[in-house]
Amino acid sequence: MKAIQLTNGFGLNNLALTELEIPTPGPQEVLIRMRAASLNYRDLVILNGFMPVEIKFPFIPLSDGAGEIVAVGQGVTRFQVGDRVAGNLQQRFIAGNPRPDVLGESLGGPLNGVATEYVVLSENGVVPIPDYLSWEEASTLPIAALTAWSMLIEYGGLQAGDTVLLQGTGGVSIFGLQFSVMAGARVIITSSSNAKLERAKALGAWQTINYSEVPDWDKAALELTGCGVDHVLDVGGAETMEKSINALRIGGTLSLVGFLSGLTIPEYDVTSILQKAATIRGSQVGNRDHFERMNRAIAHQSLHPVIDRVFPLDRIGEAFTLLAEGKQYFGKIVVQI
Ligand SMILES: NC(=O)c1ccc[n+]([C@@H]2O[C@H](COP(=O)([O-])OP(=O)(O)OC[C@H]3O[C@@H](n4cnc5c(N)ncnc54)[C@H](OP(=O)(O)O)[C@@H]3O)[C@@H](O)[C@H]2O)c1
Repeated sequence: MKAIQLTNGFGLNNLALTELEIPTPGPQEVLIRMRAASLNYRDLVILNGFMPVEIKFPFIPLSDGAGEIVAVGQGVTRFQVGDRVAGNLQQRFIAGNPRPDVLGESLGGPLNGVATEYVVLSENGVVPIPDYLSWEEASTLPIAALTAWSMLIEYGGLQAGDTVLLQGTGGVSIFGLQFSVMAGARVIITSSSNAKLERAKALGAWQTINYSEVPDWDKAALELTGCGVDHVLDVGGAETMEKSINALRIGGTLSLVGFLSGLTIPEYDVTSILQKAATIRGSQVGNRDHFERMNRAIAHQSLHPVIDRVFPLDRIGEAFTLLAEGKQYFGKIVVQI
């Protein structure tokens, strides 16, 4: 089988298309013929060796993918040959809150990922995908969609009538927009591009703010709402978190998802958190129960994930380069396998 591997070190130059033996599923395992995989910012951090996880070379990258079960091991009860599935990032995170014993076994680092024609996974780390989605669409669900879903709907308790502030038009934020609209919430979304803001409006955004033209987008959000927003999905991290708290209504929730602008805030006055009586929750994507509920909701609404570009597997380097450039895409980048 063909697979992409980081052969003996980090970085784009170490990515190679290799030929490997097709693995055999053991007890409680399934063999999946992967059809598509999608890229996340996490994959870039791992590619460049900046994620604090132990990577053993040769290593197969990418966390998110979708495919068809082609063989099952002894004792498999959840699936049969022919089922269309996706793997959950955290392979052992089945239900409840994140716990040390279920976090860490993540596809695409430290575990081998899905940029390969065949992969063996535990039947417990896999979920069925909606029938009507293309392989490419389904490949975008495990991290970007599940993060937005679990932070807004499962942990965040988003209600119809709430207002959500989303940052930028990358994978997590565009799913956040789609799920908020689905839930009857109204969305303020920011972007560095007016053209992308138009696309966000077409997907149902209520208000848009260009954060390059309006650096005080937190004040703009306060003015638009009068009292602040109920929920912010923060993907910026260091440079955005303070403003995200400022944009909240009293009693609002900040879901800290990303670190696109860095991880460290050198000096931070916590007064605003106290004054806003804010709830702050960090994200660890979501569990399998969340994933299954999300897929049911997606299917009920016939929601289609937003894909910017699709590359063949042997051009994965171009997909990573596009991801690394940042701000050159809207929604998700996918590779066909
Ligand atoms: N903790 C978790 O569970 C979890 C899960 C998923 C993702 N993440 C993290 O969340 C972040 C976003 O992930 P993603 O997959 O959605 O990324 P992405 O698709 O690469 O998002 C890129 C977009 O983010 C926007 N952006 C970049 N810097 C920004 C800034 N300083 N302020 C506001 N927007 C900015 C830009 O939008 P415009 O071009 O429109 O300006 C850019 O196009 C990453 O740091 C990722 O690692 C964490």
